[in-house]
Amino acid sequence: MFNSKALLASTLATLFCFASATPVKPGTDASATIQVCTSVGTGCVNLPVVSDDCINLTGGLSFLNKEISTATVPGGFICTFFQDFGCTASGVVNAGTDSEIVLQQGNWHLTNVPGLSGPTNFEDLTSSIVCSPL
Ligand SMILES: *[C@@H]1O[C@H](CO)[C@@H](O)[C@H](O)[C@H]1NC(C)=O
Repeated sequence: MFNSKALLASTLATLFCFASATPVKPGTDASATIQVCTSVGTGCVNLPVVSDDCINLTGGLSFLNKEISTATVPGGFICTFFQDFGCTASGVVNAGTDSEIVLQQGNWHLTNVPGLSGPTNFEDLTSSIVCSPL
């Protein structure tokens, strides 16, 4: 009885030390997600935010491609939405709209967001997203 308790305690201590030793990138919140929706309040998906990793709206996320209407950006991050895949700004202005928009924390309706030269409509234009810690 005593031995199994001691074994359990040492096992837990080992697990705890292992968990504590896991490196955490400063400034990143492992649980942070960006929520995007294809319509207001519907078709929503929570995408895990991995700092500076490009989220391509391809493969399993292709139903979101050129469909995002609203976005909720988590605190501590700034996210850039691109009209092109690969999180690259083409500089091309499609349909009179910037090729990228930059959003800070908040609930955004993409019909009216801050563009590079004033308020712009970015609804149904996003093909990739990248977020960075502030
Ligand atoms: C995203 O897609 C573009 C175009 O298909 C590709 O060049 C790029 O490597 C992809 N990036 C990621 C992070 O998957």
